[in-house]
Amino acid sequence: MKYITKEEYESRISRIIISEDEIRSRISEAGRFIDSIFDGRPILLVSILKGSFVFLADLARTVTVPCEIAFMSAKSYYESTQSSGEVHITMDLGRDITDCHVILVEDIIDTGRTLADVVKLLRAREPISLHVITLLNKPSRRIAEIEADMSLFTIPDLFVIGYGLDYGEYFRNIPYIAEYRE
Ligand code: IMP
Ligand code: MG
Repeated sequence: MKYITKEEYESRISRIIISEDEIRSRISEAGRFIDSIFDGRPILLVSILKGSFVFLADLARTVTVPCEIAFMSAKSYYESTQSSGEVHITMDLGRDITDCHVILVEDIIDTGRTLADVVKLLRAREPISLHVITLLNKPSRRIAEIEADMSLFTIPDLFVIGYGLDYGEYFRNIPYIAEYRE
């Protein structure tokens, strides 16, 4: 998406699926989950860019135990419906993870292929533990065998935007989750 009028932009935001208030109350529960993992050893929150940047920012501020924050960027390539297991890291953590509890923070698990590949790659680096927290879960579209340890909202097979999620790189800054109108 390159040029878009303000009228068209607004017309693409169909209806609110999850409000700011609903997001806020579920996020504090995820914060308690992270708190419960702390055992004196480092916790590393890993955000897979770009979609989870808003979620991570709000989630991290509900955590009350010491934690570090890191970002990574990954692209997976698939020739068929099967996961290739080939994940290309375009930006890596820049940190050894063998001494910490890793918590992967995801925006949405759709087919699950990207996440499955990233989890496989991080597990091979032997962190103390690895947990996945996702804001949204679309179980009806799952292809890879992967589930989050904590999923804040389960949604039907809709294309959603806002709160970090984009369509053509727009709409990430909407403060709630909306359905995208074609
Ligand atoms: P998958 O789980 O490997 O299929 O891919 C998940 C990625 O696809 C997410 O991290 C999003 O970037 C993107 N995605 C999947 N569903 C949606 C949606 O409804 N809205 C926006 N992005 C989505
Ligand atoms: Mg994403």
